[in-house]
Amino acid sequence: MNKIEVVKNVFWVGAIDWNIRNFHGYTYTTKRGSSYNAYLIIDKKIALVDTVLGSFSGELIERIKEIIDPSEIDYVIANHVETDHSGAIPEIMKLATKAKLVGTAKCKEGLYRYYYGNWDFQVVKTGDEILLGEKTLKFIEAPMIHWPDSMFTYIPEDRLLLPNDAFGQHLASTQRFDDEVDNCILMDEATKYYANILIPYSQIILKKIDEILKSGIDIKIIAPSHGIIWRKDPMKIVNSYIQWAKGLPQYKDVLVIYETMWGATEKMANMILEGIKSVGVEGKLYNVSITDRTEMIKDILNSKGIIIGSSTHDNNILPNIAGFLDFIKGLRIKNRIGASFGSFGWSGEATKIIENILKESGIETAIPPISVKYMPSEDDLKNCFEFGKQFAEKVRG
Ligand code: FEO
Repeated sequence: MNKIEVVKNVFWVGAIDWNIRNFHGYTYTTKRGSSYNAYLIIDKKIALVDTVLGSFSGELIERIKEIIDPSEIDYVIANHVETDHSGAIPEIMKLATKAKLVGTAKCKEGLYRYYYGNWDFQVVKTGDEILLGEKTLKFIEAPMIHWPDSMFTYIPEDRLLLPNDAFGQHLASTQRFDDEVDNCILMDEATKYYANILIPYSQIILKKIDEILKSGIDIKIIAPSHGIIWRKDPMKIVNSYIQWAKGLPQYKDVLVIYETMWGATEKMANMILEGIKSVGVEGKLYNVSITDRTEMIKDILNSKGIIIGSSTHDNNILPNIAGFLDFIKGLRIKNRIGASFGSFGWSGEATKIIENILKESGIETAIPPISVKYMPSEDDLKNCFEFGKQFAEKVRG
């Protein structure tokens, strides 16, 4: 295997997971695979920063062995407990017999609860340092970005930030650096990652970025624990995080997301889209039952308006849109406006239920809902067109 040097004497020793298609259980689809990035730092003392998913332990160990004997490792830095980064720790600690495990107090507790290992553990907090020789490891606690145990490691001599999950993307590639890959795909995956994993922690992320920038930490390279390393323009992803964390949608466009039983709600959705288009606002239409949720959540990060539709079913909304709205509620996204629509046969609760969930999710409803009994008439469709137009004008501002 080729040795991959991030900067002098810092080697990428992770693993590429080409075939993973679902992450975090089934909450995140990873159509482009992923990688688990670990970094080996060679100095008077040797440190390994993070490991890989347990099933890739062999690949990690093989990459390390091409550089040193694992028994020479002095420190294993665990920036994060989650098993995609800690899964190989038990195997590594068997080989790295003199190594200390290093992490936050929450990390110590979490690793014990996962693996029940009897390891020599050094608890660190923000500002603590370990001098390896010519290089220093500086630690920055980053609780809830995105677990309580999360931590960043910084090497000031190389201006290299190892922030674990932050700034990552689920993207498998033979290439390791941002100047080697298609940047549209890279940003698409980085956006999806933020939207699906980090939105709920946006206020914490804003504070942490501010703290890091104000502390005078100079960043030349950001090497996250998933995907591609940012060395061409690391501030590009930092600035994107600031924009996303502030809750500022990139586009004044509208998503129309619906579920339909016999096509009436779908007819309404199509006409609403026509109304949106009529005032020059971009719209996107998604049938929630056949669309990848991870992609739709990514689009919510970038879109100002969200219109949700469902037929009424058993005095409720349909089950796929209900699951989708439940996911949105957990995101606690800000600065979005919404509206609801739907068809019904007799009771017609769907639009009110959707409105209530949007409100609970922090999404302000911009216009009253629109409902249609059974199939939309010509007049109903005209009203749907006007509904889309009126909503798009609110989005345009
Ligand atoms: Fe990539 Fe939170 O694990």
